[in-house]
Amino acid sequence: MAYMLGCMKVLVTGGAGYIGSHMVLCLLEAGHDVVVLDNLANSSAESLRRVEELTGKHPDFVELDLLDATGVDRLFETNGFDSVIHFAGLKAVGESVAQPLRYYQNNIVGTLNLLASMDKHGVRTLVFSSSATVYGASEEVPLIEKMPLDATNPYGRTKEQIEDILTDLGAADSSWHIALLRYFNPVGAHESGRIGEDPTGVPNNLLPFVAQVAVGRREKVMVFGNDYPTPDGTGVRDYIHVMDLAAGHLAALDYLPSHPGVFRWNLGSGEGSSVLEVIQAFGDAAGKPVPFAFAPRRPGDAAVSYADPSSALADLGWSTHRNLAQMCEDHWRWQRENPNGYNA
Ligand code: NAD
Ligand code: UFG
Repeated sequence: MAYMLGCMKVLVTGGAGYIGSHMVLCLLEAGHDVVVLDNLANSSAESLRRVEELTGKHPDFVELDLLDATGVDRLFETNGFDSVIHFAGLKAVGESVAQPLRYYQNNIVGTLNLLASMDKHGVRTLVFSSSATVYGASEEVPLIEKMPLDATNPYGRTKEQIEDILTDLGAADSSWHIALLRYFNPVGAHESGRIGEDPTGVPNNLLPFVAQVAVGRREKVMVFGNDYPTPDGTGVRDYIHVMDLAAGHLAALDYLPSHPGVFRWNLGSGEGSSVLEVIQAFGDAAGKPVPFAFAPRRPGDAAVSYADPSSALADLGWSTHRNLAQMCEDHWRWQRENPNGYNA
């Protein structure tokens, strides 16, 4: 897919993180100037060093916390940004249940600080990382943007509340151009194997856990529930390659300048894969079976979640191109070549 946008100066908050680093790579390859703001709370600047190595281009990096409103405002004073892609946030569901104040403070106050500076400096084009988690445990699939939202944990509620804040902002001032991108399950890595997901501690999500089992860091995958009303009894999700996800952001950045308002798009493939299918596909990619055992259901998990991605196709001309096998191959290459992530 070719994108038409001219060169822009883009602020990427959370750009040292998993999705953000892939986004920065895509932006640099598309010829944009990039400034990354990140406090490195859940990432390493090594990801950006590798992005520079891969692209031959330098993303400016500012180590800064979005909670530092003065610092954020100074950044806008000294840079003429055209747009912002806002990834920065805490994202672990279980941790958000245990530490709700930290999550509301970081995700919501951080976003409010960012929005205040954007407004003050007349930067009113924003792409926000929302999540399929805003649909809650809906039993209706596929999930469509117009469905009611019902997040079931503090992390998800920060996403839902930020969506509300941005919707109110767009209603109050028609000079804002805002995309709310609801990601399904981002996995995979850049095909070079140089950048990828590097979770701290025990991974919460399936793919990084499976990858750490395959590389020998963990013994076996615990499959949470095999009594769901699905073909093989295990949970079904819509996995999306992180490079396809980044391409969706480029498409949104292309669309927004000529479209004021607030837009919601699901970014998913529209297809579901079960936990057992993922474990099988990863084993195929790694050339060895991935050991697993069944365990009880994880509280709060939906049986089935997948997107209706037709709005993003109709409005943005965007759809996914990489299948589950490619996601696993790329994720495995990253894990195999970086068994301990960025901490070699
Ligand atoms: P990540 O943790 O790798 O990246 C988030 C980045 O934000 C990190 O580098 C972290 O250091 C930074 N950050 C956090 N709080 C900050 C603050 N106050 N100031 C400055 N930087 C801060 O996570 P990711 O997987 O790349 O996710 C990016 C975004 O996408 C997040 O908003 C997340 O909620 C959302 N999202 C992720 C998924 C997923 O499964 N990965 C799914 C749906 C939505
Ligand atoms: N699962 C296991 N074992 C594990 C981890 C997960 O069986 O060790 C299962 C889960 O029960 C689920 C599936 O694998 O059926 C996927 O689980 P993930 O934790 O990878 O993903 P979720 O769909 O539960 O949630 C993720 C993020 C959320 C985000 C959501 C939608 O954690 O923050 O995707 O984007 F909101």
